[in-house]
Amino acid sequence: MKVSKIKFLVASGLMTVLCTLLNHSALAQASAANPIIIKFSHVVASDTPKGKAAERFKELAEKATKGRVKIEIYPNSALYKDKEELEALQMGGVQMLAPSLAKFAPLGVKEFEVFDLPFIFPNRDVLHRVTEGPIGTSLLAKLEAKGVTGLAFWDNGFKVMSSNVPMHLPTDLRGKKMRIQASKVLDAQMRALGANPQVLAFSEVYQALQTGVVDGTENPPSNLYTQKMFEVQKHVTLSNHGYLGYAVVVNKKFWDGLPADIRLALTAAMKSATQYANAIAQVENDNALDAIKKSGKTTIYTPTPQERAEWMKVLQPVRVEMENRIGKELIKSVNAEARALGY
Ligand code: LMR
Repeated sequence: MKVSKIKFLVASGLMTVLCTLLNHSALAQASAANPIIIKFSHVVASDTPKGKAAERFKELAEKATKGRVKIEIYPNSALYKDKEELEALQMGGVQMLAPSLAKFAPLGVKEFEVFDLPFIFPNRDVLHRVTEGPIGTSLLAKLEAKGVTGLAFWDNGFKVMSSNVPMHLPTDLRGKKMRIQASKVLDAQMRALGANPQVLAFSEVYQALQTGVVDGTENPPSNLYTQKMFEVQKHVTLSNHGYLGYAVVVNKKFWDGLPADIRLALTAAMKSATQYANAIAQVENDNALDAIKKSGKTTIYTPTPQERAEWMKVLQPVRVEMENRIGKELIKSVNAEARALGY
């Protein structure tokens, strides 16, 4: 190696060390007058389970750090859309996000798509055994290699199907263009129903439904309501065929560089915000569904037990189809959590 190249490497190494030290001392000197700023970007409305939990976290974190940390929340894709927000997190453009679990595979962590498998969680109790137990911990740990630290799982809820035609049986979705998040499992799910899946950013869904770019979509009622999607969808079926929830994540370098006392305070604030998120999620979705019903714009259909069995039968093969992508063992371990609760 040339001497000039060695000199260059030594100099740039010293610069990195110097910058890190300066950065650390800036963080260590954070005060109410000169606070550490955490930009928390998300794509949903403020009056949703995620929006409200983010506000609660802000409140608790700022109080616990006596203003040495300031959380700036940017809801409704105001800063970044789905794919961009994860890239921005890795680049340090924002420090905190709570993307839906369906959006982590493009980071290279395909295992998160286990949450998208149709009918894998019989209810929230099973889901919580997964998110709050060793499976959840090991999934979050996989993010570290991507420069991302996972802090918590936040609930939203089980998804309903919406479109402009009544959907009693899976065949009713045949040939329909259905908006999905960027998850291969959701792609396979819509194909199993005979539909034509289209990946779109969340912020684009309302307009795509309104203009007929897509015919329908899936989401928990809280999103359907707060994005006004119900105004451009005549029918909703309470299929509850899959789950949508979030992982709260931070830029790893930023997180590791925080003064230890601040990291501790933020961890405690996150714990309380998580309890709050998970306590309100079902109620928020129930209220949203009531509001959609009251609007009179959308017909809400509950499948009969026979119809529900048909949805399950048609979607069951997706689990096998996706085994290689997600990991057989992971799927088995989630099923074991369900069995432990008698399902
Ligand atoms: C979606 O894109 O449908 C959801 O992930 C939006 C969200 O964050 O709840």
